[in-house]
Amino acid sequence: MRLFVVTLLIPLSLFTLVTVRADLVGMPYLAEGALESSIEIKTSGLSGEQLFVVCSACHSLEIGAAHRLGPNLSGIYEKHAATRHGFTYSEALRGSGIVWDRGSLLGWVMSTETMVPGTWMLYHNHLTLEESMRLVDYIISVSQK
Ligand code: HEC
Repeated sequence: MRLFVVTLLIPLSLFTLVTVRADLVGMPYLAEGALESSIEIKTSGLSGEQLFVVCSACHSLEIGAAHRLGPNLSGIYEKHAATRHGFTYSEALRGSGIVWDRGSLLGWVMSTETMVPGTWMLYHNHLTLEESMRLVDYIISVSQK
């Protein structure tokens, strides 16, 4: 009888283990995929100004407006990174040597943490290349006014 219970338990626990593993691997992937597609549907066709709404939770583009969780971005185009007065930046961004041109802004928007590991801007977006370019063009156009 005891032998029977043991032989029954082993396959059972193996089965549970495999199922749990599959959940661990499968669920986040599925959740991420679902999120990506839903955001893509929402953002396609939006103007650069509309796309900036997500950024505006942490950034203003208005001259003289207060810093939020992120620094004020007015006039950021062609400026050195991490040089806004009155904002405390991460060491990573301060030491990055970045100048904000079209290419660097695009890289930043598309993969912030890859560009500057250790940055405090913890932000991941699911925009397409085209949408990111539209967003960056908007930031540049406002920045040059
Ligand atoms: C959750 C808040 C948050 C969101 C959302 C956010 N940012 Fe940021 N951003 C920050 C923080 C914080 C920093 C400073 C990072 C550091 O010091 O490492 C920053 C820095 C920046 C900088 C560099 C500024 C400088 O003075 O060098 C740019 C450019 C920028 N963000 C653009 C954007 C854009 C464009 C978006 C939207 C796609 C965005 N951010 C979304 C918080 C945010």
